[in-house]
Amino acid sequence: MRSAPLTLLLSAFLCAIGCSDGGDGGAGGTGGQGATGGTGGATGGTSTSAGGTSASTSGTGSATGGTSASTGDASSSTGDASSSASGTGGSGGGMAVRTPAASASTLREAGEKANPPILIGAAISGGGLNNGDYKRVAAAEHSYVTAENEMKWDALEPNPGQFSWGSADNIVNWARSNNMKVKGHTLVWHNQLPGWANSLSGATQVEQAIRRHIENVMGHFKDRIDTWDVVNEAVITDSDTGVGNPRMRPSVFFNALGDRFLDLAFEIAREQDPNAKLYYNDYSIDALNDKADYVYEMIKGMVERGVPIDGVGFQMHIGPPNNEAGGADVAANLRRFADLGLDVLISEMDINRCSNQVTAEEQLTYYHDIVEACFLMPECKAITFWGINDGRSWLNSWSGALCNGQSSQSLLFNDQYQKKETYNRVMDALMGR
Ligand code: G3I
Repeated sequence: MRSAPLTLLLSAFLCAIGCSDGGDGGAGGTGGQGATGGTGGATGGTSTSAGGTSASTSGTGSATGGTSASTGDASSSTGDASSSASGTGGSGGGMAVRTPAASASTLREAGEKANPPILIGAAISGGGLNNGDYKRVAAAEHSYVTAENEMKWDALEPNPGQFSWGSADNIVNWARSNNMKVKGHTLVWHNQLPGWANSLSGATQVEQAIRRHIENVMGHFKDRIDTWDVVNEAVITDSDTGVGNPRMRPSVFFNALGDRFLDLAFEIAREQDPNAKLYYNDYSIDALNDKADYVYEMIKGMVERGVPIDGVGFQMHIGPPNNEAGGADVAANLRRFADLGLDVLISEMDINRCSNQVTAEEQLTYYHDIVEACFLMPECKAITFWGINDGRSWLNSWSGALCNGQSSQSLLFNDQYQKKETYNRVMDALMGR
């Protein structure tokens, strides 16, 4: 259990790599608004993301400050905050920092008015959209949607080559009608596969199945989705907390193709859409640990050999069954991936209170400091929460989450769709407080 004062740790980290007094106005004056300065020994200058679409230039370790001059617009369903948020740096400076909105009454507005904008997302379920309060809160507070289950293989391709679009289309069309952007989740994942896919064997069969799935899915959503989790959770450790013996995860994909299935998936996705943002997504890589180190080397290798990857999603499931992560560790970890020339994003955030492994006070601190760590980095393009209200959280019924049917109290809204204190702490971080 981490109990250090995380805001102080975050400030200490930022100062260790170069404090400034901020000076970009409107920030409410915490030390955290200071420019982050150069990245010292980071790998800077590797802005060779093979996708060719990432605007993130990353720090070179030599520049100072300056706020970003983004013109991006996260509020448009076709707008793309991610195309605007490069750390431009000035002469002799490092990364710019994101400037908070002067005022905002929703998370969505805080994200849209920040400079550069940042997408505020939620996992949306088809069942949730049957509830009026759920829909109202989801659309008012978020600008970004990930389908919680409806775009996984078992939902989209229940039989080989036969696709079922209805549930996914409902979510995507609802999102677009509310001017929200959608991230496709997920093209290649070991979990929630239909039985037939788990029975595939041999490199040829598996490669053909991957190609057919990606081509059909990206083709179907081509004009509606331009950002994809291409590969999800390809790495495993001895514990779900990201500690011990990191290695490639056995799966129908890895077993047939070895680790080249990753490159293959990204290359097929790039063939389908030369302009899409293509992301790798994983859990328990949020802070500095064995799994994050392994994934960092894996992604660095992909960038160096020209695989078309544009970014990495850090799921940020905090508490059982996954990790705990302090804000300072998160900032350092996101920074090294961004310095590869990649987008970074918080892709599935929740903080589980079951069994009190994370106390109420720790939960509030984590929510603030982790959101702040992302918000301060222009390369951090989105913060997605994994659900809207506590009662619908996946954690409540997930055995490793230790909830035993009780509420995980893990999200920003209670079951009456009222804002919790967790919401206030997230809002504080988005407003530079
Ligand atoms: O659809 C069936 C239903 O027919 C059946 O009656 C019911 C009985 O258990 O199960 C339903 O399926 C469940 C499915 O969610 C849809 O509700 C599965 O049991 C359940 O295991 C599944 O859990 C999902 C989990 O992924 C599966 O891995 C969670 O809702 C979903 O939030 C979670 O999301 C993942 C991300 O995609 C990737 N990262 C981790 C994250 C949390 O595990």
